[in-house]
Amino acid sequence: MGLSLTATCSGKDIEHDNSRNEVNQTMNDRLTPYSKTDEAAVPQTASGEMVAVRLRINGSNYGLRIDPRTSLLDLLREQLDLTGTKKGCNHGQCGACTVLVNGRRINSCLALAVIYDDSEITTIEGLANGDELNPVQAAFVSHDGFQCGYCTSGQICSAVGMLHEVEQGTVSHVTADVRQQGRVELTDEEIRERMSGNICRCGAYPGIVAAVREASGKAG
Ligand code: FES
Ligand code: FES
Repeated sequence: MGLSLTATCSGKDIEHDNSRNEVNQTMNDRLTPYSKTDEAAVPQTASGEMVAVRLRINGSNYGLRIDPRTSLLDLLREQLDLTGTKKGCNHGQCGACTVLVNGRRINSCLALAVIYDDSEITTIEGLANGDELNPVQAAFVSHDGFQCGYCTSGQICSAVGMLHEVEQGTVSHVTADVRQQGRVELTDEEIRERMSGNICRCGAYPGIVAAVREASGKAG
């Protein structure tokens, strides 16, 4: 009984593998032209080529020589030991890597560091003023805007950049009247929309919205 079961199961496994092989072969046939195109499109750098870049990060000046293919995220984390900025997806989809460049929020995983030569970078490590937390940081603490904390650096940097955008009168997808001049009223709907590029796997969104609301000067 046992032998027969094993034999049957093995037979199914082999049959299953064969069908998967056929599917994989079909997929490979379809993907081959794209793979070749992608390979040709990737810029090939000379072995060991390094590029000089100057950055001002959290108030300190850095003169660096880096591989031109280095992302800003990897430069911060791997070479400068600024590990507060997190790598989540590394594909521009989660916002964990958000930093401020010349005051504007960007996904550092999608940014080549060389592009930002002579720029001012602010990471989570540079937001506080000594022992005094940035108002957004303080609001995240008082409203429990985090659980595991993995997304929090990106959420806070994103919120700082977003509040600056609001001050400048930038509208969003949910702004009712985009012709209205001046500061947009920062409703919870506006906060959710403007922070939608930052994903929280713990689902700490109620606390995050409350924290951003408080930090914007509108008591929650
Ligand atoms: Fe950059 Fe996810 S790590 S967006
Ligand atoms: Fe855990 Fe946001 S607090 S992912």
